[in-house]
Amino acid sequence: MKHALILCDCVRAKSCIVLVSMATLQRITFVKSVTIVGLFKVCCIQWIKMRNSQFYTDPTDAVKDIPSGATILVGGFGLCGIPENLINSLLKTGVKSLTAVSNNAGVDNFGLGLLLQTKQIKRMISSYVGENIEFERQYLSGELEVELTPQGTLAERIRAGGAGVPAFFTATGYGTLIQEGGSPIKYNKDGTIAIASEQREVREFNGRHYILEKAITGDFALIKAWKADKAGNVIFRKTARNFNQPMCKAAKVTIVEVEEVVDVGTFAEEDIHIPSIYIHRIIKGGSYEKRIERRTVQKAQAEKPKPKKDSDIVRERIIRRAALEFEDGMYANLGIGIPMLASNFIQPDITVHLQSENGILGLGPYPTEDEVDADLINAGKETVTVLPGASYFSSDESFAMIRGGHINLTMLGAMQVSKMGDLANWMIPGKMVKGMGGAMDLVASAGTKVVVTMEHSAKGGKHKILDTCNLPLTGKQCVDRIITEKAVFDVDKTKGLTLIEVWEGLTPEDIKACTGAHFAVSPNLRSMQQV
Ligand SMILES: *[C@@H]1O[C@H](CO)[C@@H](O)[C@H](O)[C@H]1NC(C)=O
Repeated sequence: MKHALILCDCVRAKSCIVLVSMATLQRITFVKSVTIVGLFKVCCIQWIKMRNSQFYTDPTDAVKDIPSGATILVGGFGLCGIPENLINSLLKTGVKSLTAVSNNAGVDNFGLGLLLQTKQIKRMISSYVGENIEFERQYLSGELEVELTPQGTLAERIRAGGAGVPAFFTATGYGTLIQEGGSPIKYNKDGTIAIASEQREVREFNGRHYILEKAITGDFALIKAWKADKAGNVIFRKTARNFNQPMCKAAKVTIVEVEEVVDVGTFAEEDIHIPSIYIHRIIKGGSYEKRIERRTVQKAQAEKPKPKKDSDIVRERIIRRAALEFEDGMYANLGIGIPMLASNFIQPDITVHLQSENGILGLGPYPTEDEVDADLINAGKETVTVLPGASYFSSDESFAMIRGGHINLTMLGAMQVSKMGDLANWMIPGKMVKGMGGAMDLVASAGTKVVVTMEHSAKGGKHKILDTCNLPLTGKQCVDRIITEKAVFDVDKTKGLTLIEVWEGLTPEDIKACTGAHFAVSPNLRSMQQV
């Protein structure tokens, strides 16, 4: 049905008579007044010419011109804030040989995992792919190319791409395979390396080493946002912002799926996360599954604690020592497992602000059943809550916070630590490839104290504290303190290890016998402290 309209632009005092369809009528925003004059509707409007954004009704229409071989930027962190409908549409168009830039690769049967199953992806550029068995199989058997990139570097490469910065220097990855090159991007069938990563240029600024990283841009960005207004401005919800925000700006064509399209003026101008200039296509998704990767809830008070195994006792000892690292007013980023559990023992008289690198400052406890929200997860993909005063932000912002040295404490696990504080925790060549996630960025930050919490020895008694690490490094000379169930060491990056605490009943000789590196013993050696 066509509507005859007299459009009067009350701002510029112009008027015209046009016949418009209902669809166009919906795109004309800010109708200020409507009067019926005979057969005509006279609308006084503020005429906002739709700039970029085209509204689509079928998600497949919105992606059907993505050609085989294209580079696509796909938003999301884990399964949080992924463009479900657009990914499903790519299954329909059957496009092949895609290069997909995405922090994660979904899980076997959801998210990008679906496009891996159908072999539509040729190369992934990601920071962490640990949750996807088919991914790991395709990579290790040489069917899939994978460029593992530290999470903060990935976010900044995309941000730089959108901002017209061709490359930048970062300390992240210096002294690791990322800088040295030769990291496997593609394996041959026999397990040898078919394509290796490139070496990075190193420059020194103010006495520190930095490596040159190049910007990433895409042919298309597939984005999941919460709401778009009819002018094409977009907002995100909670931690579903993540990589979506920088990716919006870094592609030739940005396609956004949203849960709701709202009238202009619904969001205050200052609350818009992405201005319409970056958005080319918008589709309201038909439905959202919003699958949760790790549904984690608070245990009911009544639940009886399980009897403790030996491994639990060891863990609890490390946790109760690690909790003493917290100081009042600190900003801390805690790795999954022991470090995160240490936050349960933060003393009630101090305040510690927990940062989660997927975009939270002010992380709270696990939710109750009723509070579980798929758009609110931590960096371990667990459902969480936030405390009053918390904030959400995008991945590029989160790593600016980390790289910029604004976080006081990083606590994380390790596979190996060397006496000079080198850390290895992300890869066993040819065997295990989970990716470094944000760990390389976290430990490369000058001004952040890095504390490693880990069991003293690996299974079978193999040393984890060594003269030099033989696994690929996460960071060079970056660890400040090591906490195990047997001992606490301070690390001086030029002089080496000093034993400062031992578990009651153990002597420095006992520690020597189970440690693969030489260490000094502090004159103030004391027994291991516990909260
Ligand atoms: C945390 O770091 C900031 C600098 O970024 C510093 O001003 C502040 O004193 C530190 N706080 C604690 C508790 O260490």
